[in-house]
Amino acid sequence: MINVNYPSVSTALAIGGVELPNRIVFPAWQVNYANTDGTVSDKLTDFYTAIADGGCRLIFTGAATVSLDTVAFDRVMRIDYDECVPGLTKLFSAISSRGSVPGSQIVHYGRQKIGYNIGIRDTA
Ligand SMILES: Cc1cc2nc3c(=O)[nH]c(=O)nc-3n(C[C@H](O)[C@H](O)[C@H](O)COP(=O)(O)O)c2cc1C
Repeated sequence: MINVNYPSVSTALAIGGVELPNRIVFPAWQVNYANTDGTVSDKLTDFYTAIADGGCRLIFTGAATVSLDTVAFDRVMRIDYDECVPGLTKLFSAISSRGSVPGSQIVHYGRQKIGYNIGIRDTA
């Protein structure tokens, strides 16, 4: 549907080698819907597939941690060990299969990491 106030929102855009069918972007949101081990849950997949079904064509999945020492929140998504791969593959495939482009925000909170005491020494 064309938005009369913002007609270009509904038009395609090429960024580098990536073709976006429209310009509606979902920014990185950390929603803490992962499983307790940080792997992708059905709830997390359902969250992002609903956004894709709504017509968002560039979807950034929020705040996936890159190492155990920066897991600062319960149920944050992790990408730092092999067992994370099948869930991540399923998640990004689900987004792609709906015609949207997935992107991932990876994080290390450094000194800002808070409260989640797992007995691991800070590396930043
Ligand atoms: C629930 C929630 C979670 C968010 N998580 C992240 C995040 O993980 N990473 C990030 O860079 N920004 C995060 N943000 C900020 C959003 O990406 C975005 O900047 C915010 O929604 C404002 O969007 P706007 O600047 O387009 O108004 C979060 C925002 C909300 C409301």
